[in-house]
Amino acid sequence: NAAIGVAVLGLGNVGSEVVRILREHARELEARVGAPVVLRGIAVRRIEGDRGVPAELLTTDADSLVTRADVDIVVEVIGGIEVPRKLILAALNSGKSVVTANKALLADYTGELAEAAENKSVDLYFEAAVAGAIPVIRPLTQSLAGDRVNKVAGIVNGTTNFILSAMDETGADYADTLAEAGRLGYAEADPTADVEGYDAAAKAAILASIAFHTRVTAADVYREGISKISSADLEAAKSLNCTVKLLSICERVNGADGSERISARVYPALVPLDHPLASVNGAFNAVVVEAEAAGRLMFYGQGAGGSPTASAVMGDLVMAARNRVHGGRGPRESKYADLKIAPIGEI
Ligand code: HSE
Repeated sequence: NAAIGVAVLGLGNVGSEVVRILREHARELEARVGAPVVLRGIAVRRIEGDRGVPAELLTTDADSLVTRADVDIVVEVIGGIEVPRKLILAALNSGKSVVTANKALLADYTGELAEAAENKSVDLYFEAAVAGAIPVIRPLTQSLAGDRVNKVAGIVNGTTNFILSAMDETGADYADTLAEAGRLGYAEADPTADVEGYDAAAKAAILASIAFHTRVTAADVYREGISKISSADLEAAKSLNCTVKLLSICERVNGADGSERISARVYPALVPLDHPLASVNGAFNAVVVEAEAAGRLMFYGQGAGGSPTASAVMGDLVMAARNRVHGGRGPRESKYADLKIAPIGEI
């Protein structure tokens, strides 16, 4: 079979790990895909110093890279919103499949991007956008596609969980722990997105949209962060046999008029110590899904960091590559319901 060409946009924590796996596991990937998977280029902001990859792969011209004839799949791991949005749309409109880890972008533009993918019959995959290495998007869009999901709730921000766990276990200082989360590659470029709950809200919007087949954006999600949580709060929680976790909760609820609504909310919550989410510590994430026929499922693992996120990107990349070789298509974004958000006071 003809080679599948891959362009990677961004060479940060996730991008460099994706590039490493592509280069070091080329033979295994070829066997899984049924054709060689070849890295055609890597778009970076600046070409300077030794980036640990062959210099001829690097380019600052992302616009040309995403539409190159020998590129089949574009992997977007640069972050931000407007720049990747334009690049992804250009790639999809040129018939490329796209794999992205960009939760902030998807939280607001899944509809637009999914429509562009649909128009060209290509894949748009984003497992890495929520909960790092943990498969949550695929279970919701595929495994549970024939069931009715009623609730998706859990810990989907590694940085805040890392901070809350450290404060709880050792009384660690908030600022020191946040800096450590940055060093370990968990925190966003602007950690306000983590500590004020914006990152978790973006993920909640994505989860609610795919779980309930409707359109929920980040602005629809009620949001409170952890920046006001003190050691005293954690002590108080302990005396109640609880701990504090930043939870993202998406569920079907009844609105004030009795009609079905969606509630999507992010806030620091008291979690009883005997609840499974209470023992999710460090940068780990966990997502609990409740579905009508399946009952309760729990997904747990590494939710942040370059390697775990790259694992999810690679899974999507293999699926998109297989589809191009064998002619399949992945799950399609389905929007059948027009469920409204229930205001926080109504639930
Ligand atoms: N900043 C994010 C987190 C990275 O801490 O979970 C993974 O999306």
